[in-house]
Amino acid sequence: MSRSPIRLGVNVDHVATIRQARGTDYPDPVVAALRAVEAGADGVTVHLREDRRHIQERDVRLLAQRLRQSDGSGDGWRVPLNLEMAVTDDMLALAEAVRPPRCCLVPEKREELTTEGGLDVAGNLERVSVAVQRLNAIGARTSLFIDPDDEQLAATLTTGAPAIEIHTGHYANASGDLATTMAAEIAAFAHKATQAGLEVHAGHGLHFDNVGPIAAIPEIVELNIGHFLIAQSIFDGIGPTVQAMAAAMRAAREA
Ligand code: PXP
Repeated sequence: MSRSPIRLGVNVDHVATIRQARGTDYPDPVVAALRAVEAGADGVTVHLREDRRHIQERDVRLLAQRLRQSDGSGDGWRVPLNLEMAVTDDMLALAEAVRPPRCCLVPEKREELTTEGGLDVAGNLERVSVAVQRLNAIGARTSLFIDPDDEQLAATLTTGAPAIEIHTGHYANASGDLATTMAAEIAAFAHKATQAGLEVHAGHGLHFDNVGPIAAIPEIVELNIGHFLIAQSIFDGIGPTVQAMAAAMRAAREA
C-alpha cells in the first residue's frame, strides 16, 4: 500500500544561537537553510522570539527573499518559509510585512529554555482567532502549536486555522512504555484532528531515535525539527543530516 508522503521542515534557529553567542556574523542561518533545501528539506522554519535570542528580523527578511522563486513559478516559493511566532501585535505586523506562506502560532515565555508546551488556544480564544484572521488575510497557512488535548482541538476548530502542529516535547522527554503510550495518544489525536478537517503537523524534541513512531502516524504530513539536526550537523554536515532524517522518516512511514 502506498502511504501519504511526509514533509521535513528544517528549523535553523540554533545556527543563529551559535552566531549570537559571540555577536559575530557567522554562522549564517540563511546559508544553513539554503544548504538544507539543496539537500532536500521540504520547508524552512524559524522562530523569531521576542527576546531575539537567536533568529533576528534580518534573518527572516533575507530568508523570505532567498526562498521566493525568482521565476514566479509554482506558488512563488522554492520551499515554504514557516514563521513561528508568539501571538503579539509586533509579530503579526512583521508577518504582514514579510508575508511568509506558513505561520505557526506558539506560546512564548521569556525565561523558558525552549517552547515548553502547546498554545492555550481555549484560554486565549479571541486573541488567537484575531491573529489567525490576520494571517489568513495575507494568505499564510497558519498552524496552531498545541498539546494533544481535546479542549485545545475544539477551540482550534473555532479559530479558522487550517492546521495544527502537535507538540511532541513531552513524548520526546519520555522513554520506554510511557513513550509508546504517548505516541499512541498522539496518533489518536492526529486522527481526530484530521477527521475534523485540519492538516496535522508535529514537532519538538525529535531526533533519530524517537522520530520513527511519530513519522509512522499516517495523518501527520509534516515534521518540524531543529535542535537535533543542527547539533548533528556538527559531525556530519547539514546536507547529510537532513538527508538521513528524511530517510528515517520515510522508512518509518513505509514500515
Ligand atoms: N515546532 C515548534 C512549534 C517549535 O517551537 C520548535 C522549537 O522552536 C520546533 C518545532 C522544533 O523543536 P526542536 O528544535 O526541539 O526540534
